[in-house]
Amino acid sequence: MKRRDLIKAGVSAAALVSGALLLPTKRFLSTTAYATSAPPLTIPPLLENLDPTGDIAHFEMNVQTGLRTFLPGLSTETYGYNGDFLGPTIRVRDGQRFSAKIRNQLHEPTTLHWHGLHVPAQWDGGPRQPIAAGSDWNPNFTIDQQAATLWYHPHAMGLTGAQVYRGLAGLFIIEDEFSDRLELPKTYGVDDIPLIIQDRRFSQDGQFLYTQNMHDVINGVLGNQLLVNGQLTPGFQATTGLLRLRLLNGSNSSIYRISFSGGLAFKMIASDGGFLQQPVPLSTIILSAGERAEILLDLSSMAAETTQLVVEQYGGSRFEAMQIKKASQPNQSMPIPKTLRTVERLKPEDAVKTRSFVMETMSMGMTGERLTINGKKMDPKRIDERIKHNTVEIWEITNRASMMMSMPHSMHLHDVQFQILDRNGQPPEAHELGYKDTVLIPQGESVRIIIPFGDYRGIYMYHCHLLEHEDDGMMGQFEVF
Ligand code: C2O
Ligand code: CU
Ligand code: CU
Repeated sequence: MKRRDLIKAGVSAAALVSGALLLPTKRFLSTTAYATSAPPLTIPPLLENLDPTGDIAHFEMNVQTGLRTFLPGLSTETYGYNGDFLGPTIRVRDGQRFSAKIRNQLHEPTTLHWHGLHVPAQWDGGPRQPIAAGSDWNPNFTIDQQAATLWYHPHAMGLTGAQVYRGLAGLFIIEDEFSDRLELPKTYGVDDIPLIIQDRRFSQDGQFLYTQNMHDVINGVLGNQLLVNGQLTPGFQATTGLLRLRLLNGSNSSIYRISFSGGLAFKMIASDGGFLQQPVPLSTIILSAGERAEILLDLSSMAAETTQLVVEQYGGSRFEAMQIKKASQPNQSMPIPKTLRTVERLKPEDAVKTRSFVMETMSMGMTGERLTINGKKMDPKRIDERIKHNTVEIWEITNRASMMMSMPHSMHLHDVQFQILDRNGQPPEAHELGYKDTVLIPQGESVRIIIPFGDYRGIYMYHCHLLEHEDDGMMGQFEVF
């Protein structure tokens, strides 16, 4: 079967499921109907810093169960941080001392992982730091990283996909003196808007339909309802001409192509690890699960009153996910800075070692094992790679396509931000020249990344960020010594 056909087969299988079990698919409302009925976009609240002086950052969060009405008349069992679905936005500063008390009020273990953060291994919140049901976890470290939009989510062995699906995810924003000075929209919830984009599928009684059968594990659990900040088709009424959107693909496994109706162009200003050197004009952007992008959307240049955020799911559906309405009296649009932050390109000749990784959907060996990295599945007792601290390495990662079955994969590393050296030998495009912690690797492609490993010693994870793949064992451990 060709890749195309396989994707099609995957889609029709999903469609079958939706016919039998699910509520009507997308709810596309006409623009007019929409304008009156769209619920206003919910902005995740900023988590209150409990340090009275504000010098250090001290936060408390409960990991809890909840109920939320997504579909009319049905209440869905959920998880959330300090609430029933998703979590508050944590905002910290470079150089700030950070501490938190995380209380696990679930009836199962969880962890809290800071995705994208340079963090001591013991506070990484990966599978090695479980928080038992009913107990607390008190991470404590110093933020040592430039301004960036990161996020947090659970990462307990084999439970990541299910817990994220239930609602455990939130944003983690770092600011610094540099981002303070840049002339960009920065009023949180007004012109600096976080958008956590996720899809879900529901059972007839309105529960999340999360399963890890063979089909779902290989293809990822694709939903047929699209949520933005936990809402179906919300609307946002802009009050300024220029919007900064912090996009997070917070889905389990979906790869999104994101654009705006009418082909409205935007400028990308930051990737996973922080600002790009200069704004990059784009009209679509592809984000795989876990990736972020900050973009500037100039509504004052738009002829129409509204634009739709369009989210297309790889191998799935197209959603008009959210409506954005121009300000009635748009402020004169703020000028967009020509340069953002110098991003020195890391040099291949500085790398002390090159490692090769082969990601396979179905390995060709005798065993025909599924979802492996270098033929292996995750083993918490095994250290896969040992890396000297403060050295630079090149990792060459290949998504080996097989005749049998192939899927896009991604590679995410904990603790570090890396750069893409090339894709299939070609230099990266402008929007991929910045720092990244997660990189999408389509079938048959090979990507070289260059990674500056830091000063923290200890054990961290690398894995495919399609969470069903990760939970199935498409993950390894590296130890920095
Ligand atoms: Cu966002 Cu190891 O994860
Ligand atoms: Cu991570
Ligand atoms: Cu994968």
